Amino acid sequence: MTADDTARARDAAHHLHPYTDPGVHERTGPHIITRGEGIHVWDTDGNAYIEGLAGLWCVTLGFSEPRLVDAAKRQMETLPFYHSFGGRAPEVVGELAERLIAQAPGAMNRVFFTNSGSEANDSLIKLTWACNNGLGRPEKKKIIARQGSYHGITLATAGLTHLPYARTGFDVPLNDRFLATTCPNHFREARPDESEEAFADRLAADLDRLIEAEGPHTVAAFIAEPVLGAGGVIPPPATYFDKVQAVLKKHDVFLIADEVICGFGRTGNRFGSETYGLDPDMVTLAKGLSSGYQPIGAALMSERVYEGVKAAAAETGMLGTGFTYSGHPVPVAVALEALRLYEERDVVGMTRARTPHFQARLHALADHPLVGDTRGVGLLGGVEVVADPATGARFDPATGAAKVAARHCMDHGLFVRPLPGDTLGVCPPLIITEAEIDALFDRLRAGLDSAADALGVPRG
Ligand SMILES: Cc1ncc(COP(=O)(O)O)c(C=O)c1O
Repeated sequence: MTADDTARARDAAHHLHPYTDPGVHERTGPHIITRGEGIHVWDTDGNAYIEGLAGLWCVTLGFSEPRLVDAAKRQMETLPFYHSFGGRAPEVVGELAERLIAQAPGAMNRVFFTNSGSEANDSLIKLTWACNNGLGRPEKKKIIARQGSYHGITLATAGLTHLPYARTGFDVPLNDRFLATTCPNHFREARPDESEEAFADRLAADLDRLIEAEGPHTVAAFIAEPVLGAGGVIPPPATYFDKVQAVLKKHDVFLIADEVICGFGRTGNRFGSETYGLDPDMVTLAKGLSSGYQPIGAALMSERVYEGVKAAAAETGMLGTGFTYSGHPVPVAVALEALRLYEERDVVGMTRARTPHFQARLHALADHPLVGDTRGVGLLGGVEVVADPATGARFDPATGAAKVAARHCMDHGLFVRPLPGDTLGVCPPLIITEAEIDALFDRLRAGLDSAADALGVPRG
């Protein structure tokens, strides 16, 4: 038995994988990744792949950044663990809080640290409810997301994630507090000949109607990813967030910007909120915060939200929530170094410089016989696989068309992620060069070609 066989056998026998069919996995075993460099990763057979999703929308600075490794090592040597309970804190945490407050969209005032994006959103659910208790409006508790949204997978955030796979079979509770409004997918949801602006008018009216029907005094917050990511890479239609924010202001409903994917340059600004004009009351961050090198998330809130939370905490004499690893010094030190690298290397400027080429190559796929829609912003893209591009007709879901396409891309040396609605997500490390963008899209087209053959679609 080779080392690879041993690793595979162990994994197949004992590892319950996230987002994997356990029954299939028992038969097929894992695909084990051993190392990474730049935008590439290698498996145990020595095959190299372009990581076209930066891991899971994470590794903005690429897979081999020595400065992040050194930051972790230095912190491990100095103070490998300390907590932030009872008013203590590792030395590095205050600096990260200060930097995030200085950069964040909206007028943020406080940061609560977590280990992940799910925990950041989960914490904001609790803090929103605590805030409204503290502000003396205990009925104002409902949180509205959008159909197709992904905000995490804890027991509570699964209630904000309006994707069937995240809810079905898990008995997700508290559904009466978690509502959803229309998905802002112009390709799928707009009426024939409806402009993006008219579609945005309709979506804002849908939201207004929902809040009115529920009673504005019961609706606490609206949560949105600037670009809806894991639900299929859906940038908002033109004017959408202006119109939505007018509705939220009218009803005194907080806006939570989930920047877990869009933060740190992805859309060509530091935050997706800047790209689309969001002025949030709360913000969540993770993934790019440490370039994925360490698990860390952050929940940021405005002065007003903080005042409500503080008032609620005064009831019990403390804020009774927190994780052992909230503000763990090692991920915090790595995040600080990542923030320094974003500035020193002008990662936003680099992203903007690469965007026209990336988007041109993305949209050039629209002529492919398997492609119904291409959409994106910055270095983020979605390619929707359809049975008939002329009508947009989908494949039978049992076909798993996007999964088939992703598998063929893998055979051509590219990892992309099949998302709901048969969309392939493309979100490479932000350090990608123009030549690497070409290699990525050459492989994507080759993968689509062989997927077309496998699905019995003529190449045209
Ligand atoms: C927009 C968004 N929010 C939250 C999360 C949850 O983050 P995590 O997987 O770190 O819990 C994700 C994960 O992909 C995400 O895409």
